Amino acid sequence: MKTIGFIGTGNMGGALAKAAFRSKKADVILLANRTRAKAEKLAELVNGTVCDNKEVAQKADYIFLGVEPQGLAELLEEILPVLNQRRDRYIIVSMMAGNPLAKLAEKIGDVPIIRITPNMPAAVGSGVSLYVTNDRVTAEEDDYFYQLMEPSGLVEKTDEQTMAYAGGVKGCGPAFTAMFVEALADGGVAVGLPREKAYRYAAQMIKGTAEMLLKTEQHPGTLKDSVCSPGGSTIQGVRKLEESGFRAAVMDAVIATFEKKF
Ligand SMILES: NC(=O)c1ccc[n+]([C@@H]2O[C@H](COP(=O)([O-])OP(=O)(O)OC[C@H]3O[C@@H](n4cnc5c(N)ncnc54)[C@H](OP(=O)(O)O)[C@@H]3O)[C@@H](O)[C@H]2O)c1
Repeated sequence: MKTIGFIGTGNMGGALAKAAFRSKKADVILLANRTRAKAEKLAELVNGTVCDNKEVAQKADYIFLGVEPQGLAELLEEILPVLNQRRDRYIIVSMMAGNPLAKLAEKIGDVPIIRITPNMPAAVGSGVSLYVTNDRVTAEEDDYFYQLMEPSGLVEKTDEQTMAYAGGVKGCGPAFTAMFVEALADGGVAVGLPREKAYRYAAQMIKGTAEMLLKTEQHPGTLKDSVCSPGGSTIQGVRKLEESGFRAAVMDAVIATFEKKF
């Protein structure tokens, strides 16, 4: 009988609570959020129970922290006294950006901690979530956690260095991709395509291209080459993108996110 608790049920907390529900591995889901109505709305979707932060800290076997990193100190002031009184086993799961395991242990104590970095598409079960565990987490607890999170999309155990390198690609990438969809659609509108159709076609095209790359494992350059017929229109578009520094701009964007200090 496992109780899974969430403190902070915003975008990411909500996405991971939905994954836990879909996994059918959680016996009880507890939800606590500063604005209670948000937790209440989520509770209807995940068959959860709304409670306060202290109750999650007191009862959950896995305690997910889904608040903004700058709210952690205040939250810990509230829940640490409760956690410190517990004599049973519990695991802290942090999804907060910029808080490595060592920093979390400094603040929370020498307890089992899992750090997960999901991304926005986890909300629709197509995310990329990387996680790391400290040495207090057992293999069995790790395995259970993996199964709990699996419905959120691709879930992979990794190390913190890889997690840091991947942040710009898979964490910030959805924002860059959404900008690309907007830009593609604007181009479509400019030549006469109705806007609603333009967004829908652009997003589906990206989904299809991504699926093709994942399924066939072909090099992205090979796929690009196969769309560019000799003397055709696509290669003219490719020429324009190269002229505008498209690839360099995307690389720079990823590097800029990596270099941002918290
Ligand atoms: N967004 C992403 O793509 C992404 C990716 C990876 C990791 N993360 C991390 O995930 C965490 C949440 O991000 P998010 O995008 O889900 O933000 P969000 O939508 O703003 O969610 C944060 C939630 O925490 C609640 N909250 C704040 N302080 C609280 C407290 N003391 N007690 C209880 N609830 C509290 C907020 O309540 P209110 O309803 O009152 O505002 C809000 O619902 C952040 O630490 C972020 O670094 C985000």
